[in-house]
Amino acid sequence: PSKVVITGAASGMGAALAERLRSRGTPVLGVDRESADIDADLGSRAGRRRCVERVRDLAGASLGGLVTCAGVSGHAGLPGSEVVSVNYFGTVDVMSGLRPLLAAGPSAAAVAISSIGAAVHPDLDLALVDACLAGDEEKARALADAAGPPNAYVAAKLALIRWARLNATTAEWIGAGVTLNTIAPGLVDTPMVANARRSADGRAVVDGFGVPAGRAGRPQEVAALAEFLLGGEARYLVGAVLVIDGGTEAASRPDWR
Ligand code: NAI
Repeated sequence: PSKVVITGAASGMGAALAERLRSRGTPVLGVDRESADIDADLGSRAGRRRCVERVRDLAGASLGGLVTCAGVSGHAGLPGSEVVSVNYFGTVDVMSGLRPLLAAGPSAAAVAISSIGAAVHPDLDLALVDACLAGDEEKARALADAAGPPNAYVAAKLALIRWARLNATTAEWIGAGVTLNTIAPGLVDTPMVANARRSADGRAVVDGFGVPAGRAGRPQEVAALAEFLLGGEARYLVGAVLVIDGGTEAASRPDWR
């Protein structure tokens, strides 16, 4: 079987997905800052380039899938500029860079991990979203620093959903047989959330999450959904946003439109 690339494979959802796929005999190329098959800092242009080059070296003629889980929290003490560079540009640059390898196979799937944050957050920095979609990383970084890391996080995650939906339906993606979809998780019990709870504002956000299911999600539950999107029975899913959140988003806007 062809290989699946997973960014953020060293922890949380990415690690759960890597473990799940490997247990099924699917070969995985894990990408992370360190301790992965490919070590690269996706917050930097050089790191993204390195990631794409290393995948080209290791993947063979084509890729079966790509799941981008790498991301940093808006409550990790990092500046907004770093949040937007990793979460948005570190995702779309890797997606674009690996698209030709995905298209080279018979039917590949790409999945970006976004967040329900953009759906439930009251006020979004739409100028920052626009700067992301325009591909203007310098401007996006400046706006993200001004907005602060929590706002930069939700704006980057919304921009990612819009980027995926805009691209999913094009000749380069579905026209070339590659599905592109987004998973939007709500609260999931991972090291990211455990770390966020260490600061007072992060704890307030995490503990303030209303989850009708009455518990946080497990990274394995997100991994199961990603595995489905990678599989042969998900070929009609194109540009979809799959919410997996124990009911948080449905409760916040039950009218759907
Ligand atoms: P995590 O912190 O457990 O895993 C994220 C991984 O990304 C880590 O291994 C980290 O080293 C890697 N990473 C961070 N910056 C990187 C960089 N510059 N270059 C390469 N790798 C980098 O987090 P978790 O919770 O598994 O998050 C996975 C994705 O899900 C993230 O995109 C996150 O924003 C998103 N998400 C998480 C939610 C949650 O409640 N845990 C909710 C909604 C979305």
